[in-house]
Amino acid sequence: MTLSRRNFLTTAAASSAGIAMYPMMSARGREALMAQGVGQQPVNPMAQRRADRALSSAPGMIRIDSNENPNGPGARAFEAMRANFDIANRYPVTLEDDLTTEIARYLGVKPENIMLGCGSGEVLRSAVQAFTSPTRALVSPMPSFELAADYARFIGSPVKSPRVDAKLHLDLDAMADAAKGAGLVYLCNPNNPTATVHGKASIADYIEKVGKSSPQTIVLVDEAYHEYVEDPNYSTAIPLAIDNPRMFVARTFSKVFGMAGMRVGYAVGRPETIARMKGWMLGSNISQLSLAAAKVTVGDVARIAEEKKKNHDAKVFTAKAFTGMGYEVVPSDANFMMVDIKRDVKVFKAECIKRGVAVGRQFPPLNTHLRVSVGTMAEMQKAVEVFRTTLAG
Ligand SMILES: Cc1ncc(COP(=O)(O)O)c(C=O)c1O
Repeated sequence: MTLSRRNFLTTAAASSAGIAMYPMMSARGREALMAQGVGQQPVNPMAQRRADRALSSAPGMIRIDSNENPNGPGARAFEAMRANFDIANRYPVTLEDDLTTEIARYLGVKPENIMLGCGSGEVLRSAVQAFTSPTRALVSPMPSFELAADYARFIGSPVKSPRVDAKLHLDLDAMADAAKGAGLVYLCNPNNPTATVHGKASIADYIEKVGKSSPQTIVLVDEAYHEYVEDPNYSTAIPLAIDNPRMFVARTFSKVFGMAGMRVGYAVGRPETIARMKGWMLGSNISQLSLAAAKVTVGDVARIAEEKKKNHDAKVFTAKAFTGMGYEVVPSDANFMMVDIKRDVKVFKAECIKRGVAVGRQFPPLNTHLRVSVGTMAEMQKAVEVFRTTLAG
């Protein structure tokens, strides 16, 4: 059988099965959603996002809607997958250990500080499951990456959602207040969808403050976009997580490493914190081929630098185009940016789709702020012309 590169990658991606959660929704979860005032029919955010992705994956579409890396997993990852294809019939064991060791070495921590996930999404879900309950809320700001909040509602845990501030930064004071008595705080840094970042000192202060005012609360710092940050005041929270059992960090291979379809992520924290989540994780949660690819990618610092530069150049080009058209761009420390287009994002998105460009969905309460992911320079040049035409219409 001949295996083209395209078919091979499609097969590899499909091997990491997703979990269809909606049919399993508990009565409690359904009630929780209804209680959010979302109408008579329970809203299924997973189905909505899937429908959005189906639209954006139409042939020829410029896909700048999901903060993916347009450059893909890279040659080393592809070679590693080919080299390990002959063990694709076996459940993973050794490669899980290898990847864990490799990540630990790269980060300067111990293997017992690492827990692998089927994307960092699985880590987020297990954290919600482990640390929240009907009496211990999740704090998840608004807007932020919604997986944790959606899952908390699904299992019947209350969600407290302080709004971002006027500059679209996470309001850490409001989040500290909300954390009192909560089970888990979801702190996305840089934050998706606003692309704003907090420096090392403010994250450390926040964790200390919550540690004093609500010692039982766990803080999850999601660093999915860590590698893209340019703010010199920023630094990873991993050193804090190695000392403090009340917090941990989530990372992913889906962004700078271009492996979103391969589903590899991980948590970094103290073994006792990780142990509380581990029971909620699926066994054999990452495919052999994804493990092999991630293993050779994790320490590839030259690739990270290259991806960062490409992202920076295409981002600056796009931001300048919006500014030139008179729209305010929120300073971005990620591979996406928010722009106030002064009109309803839903309508604008539908117009852009008709013209072959898929942009981010609407993120209430920021209904006029468009989230644009950074594609290749060639894609952004085309997309900017579509934005110009659509905004003029
Ligand atoms: C902030 C953040 N965290 C986590 C994820 C989940 O990523 P994955 O499950 O692919 O690792 C995403 C995906 O877009 C994200 O934006």
